[in-house]
Amino acid sequence: MSSKKKLVVLSGAGISAESGLKTFRDSDGLWEGYNVYEVATPRGFKANPQLVLDFYNMRRKDVAIALPNDGHKGLAALEQYFDVTIITQNIDDLHERAGSSKVVHLHGEIFKMRSVLDYDTIYDIRGDINVGDTAPDGGQLRPHIVWFEEQVPMLETAVDIVSMADIFVVVGTSLQVYPAAGLVNYAPEDIPIYIIDKKIPHTSISSRLIRIEMGAGEGVKELTSKLV
Ligand code: APR
Repeated sequence: MSSKKKLVVLSGAGISAESGLKTFRDSDGLWEGYNVYEVATPRGFKANPQLVLDFYNMRRKDVAIALPNDGHKGLAALEQYFDVTIITQNIDDLHERAGSSKVVHLHGEIFKMRSVLDYDTIYDIRGDINVGDTAPDGGQLRPHIVWFEEQVPMLETAVDIVSMADIFVVVGTSLQVYPAAGLVNYAPEDIPIYIIDKKIPHTSISSRLIRIEMGAGEGVKELTSKLV
């Protein structure tokens, strides 16, 4: 049982921006180039599975060549001082590659896939998935990603983790997508909540937030100087 204080992080696409990965809602973000309902919903997958598979095939290639940045590395380094759990909305593996040892992916993982017939059997994937690629159960393979309108299986786990936090840090998320954004409401009343963002979004708990309005790399350094 760790005697270290529990530091819980909720991260979003903004922490991977400095690794060259697009966010969703910034200008030139992913949702500017695509109709989210065509490429990130079960209906979209049903209507045009290859379009959806290609959308994630491209993102898988982008993630494979991206490297963790100072934001990811700084959070991993905080494990020397705190019992750190990262709850991320990101599907990239940059937190893990930076050395974070406890990462909960709320929206799935780009290097994992599963059969459309089976939620539980997960396979690793580094290359492309195409229509006609099937799992041993005969089902079409799909990315192990949580699309809009789908359940978020890790939500309960994430709520439990946030509700036990001694320190809560929100970094690089516009807090516009629920239920992930609602996690901020589960932080205990008496703990400090830091928010790191280059343009801090308005939230229901804005009055409580300790604001670090800068890019993730610099912002995590600033956070570390306040915590350690
Ligand atoms: N450093 C810090 N913050 C940044 C940086 C940066 N270099 N660049 C952008 N940001 C901030 C933006 O200001 C914004 O608040 O990161 C946030 C990115 O917000 P979104 O693009 O909405 O990404 P996110 O909040 O992760 O989206 C949540 O929406 O589309 C779904 O499933 C998808 O997981 C995603 C979810």
